[in-house]
Amino acid sequence: MKVLITEKKGQLGKDLMKSAPKGIELFPFGRDELDITSETAISEQLNEIQPEYIINTAAFTAVDKAEKETEQAIAVNSTGAGNLALAAREHSAKFLQVSTDFVFDGNQTTPYLPDAPINPLSIYGKTKANGEILVRKHFAAGSIILRTSWVYSTTGRNFVKTMLNFMRERQEIKVVIDQVGSPTWSKNLALTIWAMVTNNVHVGIYHWSDAGVASWYDFAVAIYEEATTLGLLSNPVKISPIPTAQFQTPAKRPAYSVLDSSQTNKIWGVLQEHWRTALRKMLIEQK
Ligand SMILES: NC(=O)c1ccc[n+]([C@@H]2O[C@H](COP(=O)([O-])OP(=O)(O)OC[C@H]3O[C@@H](n4cnc5c(N)ncnc54)[C@H](OP(=O)(O)O)[C@@H]3O)[C@@H](O)[C@H]2O)c1
Repeated sequence: MKVLITEKKGQLGKDLMKSAPKGIELFPFGRDELDITSETAISEQLNEIQPEYIINTAAFTAVDKAEKETEQAIAVNSTGAGNLALAAREHSAKFLQVSTDFVFDGNQTTPYLPDAPINPLSIYGKTKANGEILVRKHFAAGSIILRTSWVYSTTGRNFVKTMLNFMRERQEIKVVIDQVGSPTWSKNLALTIWAMVTNNVHVGIYHWSDAGVASWYDFAVAIYEEATTLGLLSNPVKISPIPTAQFQTPAKRPAYSVLDSSQTNKIWGVLQEHWRTALRKMLIEQK
């Protein structure tokens, strides 16, 4: 099966490329080769390749920056996703759009099911939510929207790598304790996406993250403990919990954004790994 991937330089894009199963002919593109905001670029590549499946991992993911660079966030996360879905329909390809837990407002206290009402708090969340709406408008019959959360990998910008850098440079760090979600290793997410693509039985909105929940503070403590055990850190660091009110950011984030992955697990037979186990494996790879 010919699978086109946007964008090969992102965290998820890289892990999708590394874990592609047998029988998949990969066509991964960088932003410089396929800018998803350009209908012409999309049309040229799709005419040339005639993919049977398109996976869109390309996104404007800088959550705080999106508050100021709103036009660019809309162009990539909303218009770009819509462009790809429309082009997929026109080329009779199936489509998978990766979306986010940040489409929710965080007022729930139990895991969000895929049909829970969305109410994004930030520009990033709003642009991703509008991307979902456009994908469904243009190609509901052939698209999967897969929401995930708190993605990290050995490459790219992410919380784990930021914390490791802080922990090497500082004696004390303060981390938010009243935002709760599920950290997700992009390698595990990539395997789930391949299960969905190769067993293309359903369309619609689905959720998937690694198992378990954590606050950013819990996640930071786990990073410190696991990295110290593996010899990636050697100096003592005091990690203190703080409320969101003491860590103001341009973008508002949901206080609770745990996703219920049970439908995805059931349909595609995916086994969820606890986030701490996944973190340990990622750090071993990082080493
Ligand atoms: N990271 C998370 O915590 C998280 C959580 C939930 C959901 N998600 C979703 O998961 C997906 C993958 O995220 P990720 O963590 O792999 O993100 P990432 O590492 O930031 O990768 C996104 C890639 O998209 C590229 N891109 C930006 N604008 C583009 C355009 N116009 N055309 C083509 N490519 C473009 C970026 O390039 P530049 O670097 O040059 O901008 C970057 O390489 C995204 O849909 C994201 O919204 C992520």
